Amino acid sequence: MSQAAGGDHARDTARAGAAPPSRTAAPGGPGGGGFRRGVRIAWTIATLVVVQAVVCGVAVLPVMATWGPLLVWTADNPVAGIAALSFAAIPSYALFAITLMFASAFATRVTGWRTQPDATLRLADVDWPLLDWVRYMVATHIVRLFAGTLFRGTPIWSAYLRLNGARMGRRVYVNSLAVSDHNLLEFGDDVVIGGDVHLSGHTVEGGYVKTGRVCLRSHVTIGLGSVIGIGVTVGPDVQVGALSLVPKNVTLDRRGVYVGVPARHLADRNEPPAATPGAAPAS
Ligand SMILES: CC(C)(COP(=O)(O)OP(=O)(O)OC[C@H]1O[C@@H](n2cnc3c(N)ncnc32)[C@H](O)[C@@H]1OP(=O)(O)O)[C@@H](O)C(=O)NCCC(=O)NCCS
Repeated sequence: MSQAAGGDHARDTARAGAAPPSRTAAPGGPGGGGFRRGVRIAWTIATLVVVQAVVCGVAVLPVMATWGPLLVWTADNPVAGIAALSFAAIPSYALFAITLMFASAFATRVTGWRTQPDATLRLADVDWPLLDWVRYMVATHIVRLFAGTLFRGTPIWSAYLRLNGARMGRRVYVNSLAVSDHNLLEFGDDVVIGGDVHLSGHTVEGGYVKTGRVCLRSHVTIGLGSVIGIGVTVGPDVQVGALSLVPKNVTLDRRGVYVGVPARHLADRNEPPAATPGAAPAS
């Protein structure tokens, strides 16, 4: 395990190519005055409501297009109508959820709502990069809410993550809904993320949102319930054990198994089991 060079806050801001933000809110300083901040917040809420209303409307459209003729067709027979709608309900939900994934990913792409890489954003400033991040999070959360439970861990969910900004190889399975900031994620081939893993491109510390890319190279498995920090690189050929913590800006580049809090190297991949002292040699 190797620690990325440099120390915490200064390094994060240097990476962002920005002057270190002040820790106290200066009047008229970064983020502008209260009025401008209010306008930014109002505009953010308005655009969120409009865009998400359109996205959800587009997602419901194919369902309505199916139900309309169904209702007309069964208008004279209420029993047939109830039966038709009952059988159509669950497939309709799946259709809605799939359309929602694609519509939402398309919308975040068009609007440019993304998490800024390697940034340190002061919450109190409520500046545009922070608000873009908020809008990206909300869009992702709506998809997670309506489609995530149904499709997580499937290729359909991986397709959504890709469309929503993640760079991913083949045979990637993400079985956790606590994976966010998709545009900061880079996964190689044959990556598996276990259930309840927390992996995202942001962390909130001391009133600042800090962001960083997370790179999982090929043949990486992240065990159930693990927490992966920002700026982390894992692999190739690494298994992270269940309930492990990989702290921010750490690289796990030795092939094999890592476990614990923080994660420590346990064994090399395909390492033969250690001989038991005093055991008789195998015949
Ligand atoms: C990490 C893991 C792969 C190790 O499996 P293994 O190589 O067969 O290792 P063992 O089970 O023999 O354990 C070896 C040692 O590591 C310890 N260990 C194993 N998993 C651990 C974990 N998650 N955290 C801390 N210690 C762990 C064991 O207690 C044991 O310690 P000991 O030598 O002091 O007795 C496995 O325990 C694990 O966590 N798998 C999670 C798989 C997963 O979640 N996949 C996600 C998709 S379902």
